[in-house]
Amino acid sequence: MRPPLLATTLALMSALLPRPADAGILEAVYGQMPDGRDAKIWTLSNASGMEAKVTEYGAILVSLKVPDKEGKLADVTHGYDTLEGWLGNTSYFGATVGRFGNRIAHGKFSLDGKEYSLATNNDPGGIPCALHGGIEGFCKKLWKGEGFVADGACGVRLAYTSPDGEEGYPGELSVEVVYTLTDDNQLVWEATATTDAPTVVNIVHHSYWNLSGDPSKSINDHELTLHAGHYLPTDPGLIPLGEKASVEGTPLDFRKPTAIGARVEGDFEALELAGGYDHAWVLDAAEPGEDGLFPAARLRDPGSGRVLQLSTNQPAIQFYGGNFLDGTAVGKGGVAYQHRTALCLETENWPDAPNNPKAPSAVLRPGETYYHKMVHAFSIE
Ligand code: BGC
Repeated sequence: MRPPLLATTLALMSALLPRPADAGILEAVYGQMPDGRDAKIWTLSNASGMEAKVTEYGAILVSLKVPDKEGKLADVTHGYDTLEGWLGNTSYFGATVGRFGNRIAHGKFSLDGKEYSLATNNDPGGIPCALHGGIEGFCKKLWKGEGFVADGACGVRLAYTSPDGEEGYPGELSVEVVYTLTDDNQLVWEATATTDAPTVVNIVHHSYWNLSGDPSKSINDHELTLHAGHYLPTDPGLIPLGEKASVEGTPLDFRKPTAIGARVEGDFEALELAGGYDHAWVLDAAEPGEDGLFPAARLRDPGSGRVLQLSTNQPAIQFYGGNFLDGTAVGKGGVAYQHRTALCLETENWPDAPNNPKAPSAVLRPGETYYHKMVHAFSIE
């Protein structure tokens, strides 16, 4: 790895701002893309020792070290050690997915009277759909990153311009994703986008969490709360049928903290279709704070005491319980990631929103700005 000049500059800036001595940011070259371009990686550290690594490849969160109730740090995300590993990431670990995260039925949608066709790269229940931006979505692109230091925080700003027609989507889309690690143990992820022609947008952060810090352990004993009284029932292709349904009396009711494993094998059609939890819940969006955010989820690992509280400005959350992990993906430290050893909490628009008149609009037009914010607040209980 080459000693980067920017790292020295940032370390200097870090020293000039009123921050604890051990907090700061380091930049390095992570590896080379198949075409020879360098992909950089940033290590962000905060006052209590939390550490986030972010790379330009896929605007991916490479790792996140969080203290447990004894103050012991452990990485709580699935992923890979090397850029080479990430290049083969087929599970969307840590990724920024887009232009449209989640599914679009049959890879087709109409916009202003014109039909668009996307590649279909996924077929749950044998029904084809476009998943997470297509064959080469945003998670497989080399973004352009820049580290920054602020008062009580540091972060990385990443930019990518998606050309008109990329993966079948209309309009050139200019995207910026910002990761910020604050001294009060928040990891903030923000995505902003503008377009030069009407298009559809749903940019999603796709980290896989295992708060125990042991990636071989099941997440079934994690306790989950979802601030959602409704979910979106789907067809066997995991495409929402259209209407939302109440969670009342179903194994999808997480309005009170509940162990994930308590009902995951329940006799309930939605669970059978998805092979466990893999659904979108419509967020209650009650009482947004001054920052426009409302609570989405709370995840607690009783063993380590780690708690993740998630808030957002988005209408829905996909809770995916790692049902498709089957030991094929071998990640950090050579660990083969087994069934339900991590889960995703993806705030977003409704899946298949471009085809569902009941969904909030996913259309972005010239002059408008798409903005998605997620705050991951970590604590101990
Ligand atoms: C989806 C799953 C999909 C997974 C791929 C999740 O966002 O909900 O159905 O298999 O991404 O990693």
